[in-house]
Amino acid sequence: MKSGNFIKLNLLLLSLLAFGNISGQPITIPIETKDNALVLQTDKDNRLWIVYFGNKLMNKSDYEATSQQYRYSDNNAGIYNNAYTPAGTWNLSEPALQVTHGDGNPSTELKYVSVQKKNEGDNITLTIVKLIDPVYKLNVELYYKTWNNENVFEHWTEITNNEEADVILNKYASANLFFNNKDFYLTSFQGEYLKEMQPSEEKLSQGIKTIESKLGTRAMLLGTPNFILSFDGPAKENSGQVILGHLAWTGNYKLDFEITSYKTLRFVAGINPYASAYTLKAGESFKTPSLIYTVSNNGTGQASRQLQSWARKYRVLNGEGERLTLLNNWEATYFDFDEPKLTALFKDAKTLGVDLFLLDDGWFGNKYPRNNDDAGLGDWQENVKKLPHGIGYLVKEAKAAGVKFGIWIEPEMVNPKSELYEKHLYWVIRQPDRPEKYYRNQLVLDLSNPEVQNFVFGIVDDLFIKNPELAFIKWDCNAVIYNAYSEYLNKNKIPQSHLYVDYVNGLYSVLQRIRAKYPTVSMMLCSGGGGRADYELLKYFTEFWPSDNTEPVERIFQQWNYSYFFPSITTDCHVTDWGKQPIKFRVDVASMGKLGFDIVAKHLSTDDLSFCQAAIKNYDSFKDIVWHGTQYRLASPYENPVASIAYVNDDKSKAIMFTYLHSTRFMETATERPIQLNGLDAAKKYKIKEINLYPGTVSTINSNQVYSGDFLMNVGINPDINARRASVVLEVNEVK
Ligand code: DGJ
Repeated sequence: MKSGNFIKLNLLLLSLLAFGNISGQPITIPIETKDNALVLQTDKDNRLWIVYFGNKLMNKSDYEATSQQYRYSDNNAGIYNNAYTPAGTWNLSEPALQVTHGDGNPSTELKYVSVQKKNEGDNITLTIVKLIDPVYKLNVELYYKTWNNENVFEHWTEITNNEEADVILNKYASANLFFNNKDFYLTSFQGEYLKEMQPSEEKLSQGIKTIESKLGTRAMLLGTPNFILSFDGPAKENSGQVILGHLAWTGNYKLDFEITSYKTLRFVAGINPYASAYTLKAGESFKTPSLIYTVSNNGTGQASRQLQSWARKYRVLNGEGERLTLLNNWEATYFDFDEPKLTALFKDAKTLGVDLFLLDDGWFGNKYPRNNDDAGLGDWQENVKKLPHGIGYLVKEAKAAGVKFGIWIEPEMVNPKSELYEKHLYWVIRQPDRPEKYYRNQLVLDLSNPEVQNFVFGIVDDLFIKNPELAFIKWDCNAVIYNAYSEYLNKNKIPQSHLYVDYVNGLYSVLQRIRAKYPTVSMMLCSGGGGRADYELLKYFTEFWPSDNTEPVERIFQQWNYSYFFPSITTDCHVTDWGKQPIKFRVDVASMGKLGFDIVAKHLSTDDLSFCQAAIKNYDSFKDIVWHGTQYRLASPYENPVASIAYVNDDKSKAIMFTYLHSTRFMETATERPIQLNGLDAAKKYKIKEINLYPGTVSTINSNQVYSGDFLMNVGINPDINARRASVVLEVNEVK
């Protein structure tokens, strides 16, 4: 690659041998789902462009002419609609790929080589487009996987260094998209501890709007890689073209929405290049994480239903399976427990009627007992004072009480006050010559190091080897990465800029090992509340913890927002003592997800307890619909004093409708108007019964009246919501 002659020879060889298209005729590559199409096309120079994104056309051949209808010149910043925009040559807009080649040259150009389509079952198609740099032996493969019925697209990229020397990937996006529409509205979801998933919608204007994280592990503390992109107007629930998207990556991410000088939109999404230049040795490849999105022409409601259905069927571990209701002791005891306290709680779990007891933080550490959050993390041996008979005894006692047993771990982290820190300082992410900086009194272990990966795997493996009947793991992750530096990378002469990426890939490899050995056990993804919920981790986890904020009114909003992207079966919702609402309100809200409790049952009044017992029985009777049915967001809490969500089963014979008055303002009432249901069969007849009634109260809903589905979806039903009936659960049953 060093002499000019060699370059010319190489160019000639590549154009003869590599480029599939030497005719100069454009090659058009439609990537379609049931309703949508993304269309790629080559030009006379064999560059690859996005020429169409929109409704699927009736005739595939019509896509060929789409590019002729646009007249954008290429003098502003390059041409904006490249399918994977390289840096350093003609492009001056936000690149997807920025490489320093083996000889130090920073320019990359990508030319089309070939396309391959594979059917991966009835509903799934994979399109692989190969590109190559005509000067450097750098290959790029663009992967486009589609799920036809769900209108879901997944994009990722593989970059291979076939040069003789190392190349440095300075930026290596997962996906690059382009949209010709005129007005774009972006909803991003901002966060903070206890304030996860706050939506914020804005109209994009020329320039770049970036959604990103640089926090390392707990990447979603301040925001999430989820977005809603709405075309031609703000996003609506039941109309308009929208994309719901998500970068499936547990580390630093960067999503750039760039409005061009023509007011078109370029979108580049992937791993955040911040401090993450990645060296590829000769012959090595890099696979990016996936951008996943769904497209709907009927608003966010349909988009969420598509994504939720896709997630359950194809992505989430055991997404179509069962889950365990549970009693967690975190808020009931915090760190202050012993065997008698816990065994009493097992009985509470049984009395309530849940499936499992979940022991939270505080069970481990001896030299540095875990009696608060500043010690013990990393020392995964039972604390002999609190648990003299060990976890095995607890599993046995729980079983004797009639419930399963689950346990909390935070295996990626360490307190400086721990034996692990004393023995394995080398395993800790920290700057050797600078003061340590803590987040919740702890540091992050270096998962780029295979020894640390073995250690983390060993924590889980050991628990299961000793306690084969363990039924649930809550996997927490509370700290962000400060002082990002790895002794392991240093010792092995691997650039420090690999740390953020290798950390995440190290985590995935541990989880792969865990799932190879323990494929089905339920695992909850937790991260100091909802700091982590992504579709890469959900390949290994059955569910996630949305937030430590369990105040039920806040939860109505949070669950609403999470539901854009995640199905209810993945969303853990616990009843706690947060908030002023009565127990009925709290249980009803938590029943919209995977139900759990974090209360001291014996502190409940007799009526509260019997309400909970009956509500758990009711939940058992309808959970199949909440977990596996189709969700309809009926009334938005952002637009109304009421919020309403319904779930409908597959044959439309049954639905569950939850409605809440979330505003406590005196003037707010919601009794005037009905709420229209959705997803029923217009031709079917239904009766409506109120369930989850608090002892001593009588429903105001006439359960004998028969309604047509048509009526319920057009006129609606009035749940009679008011300050005295602030939470109403209705069961809609087909009558024959
Ligand atoms: C943070 C989690 O979000 C809580 O639910 C709890 O598990 C604590 N960590 C324990 O330290």
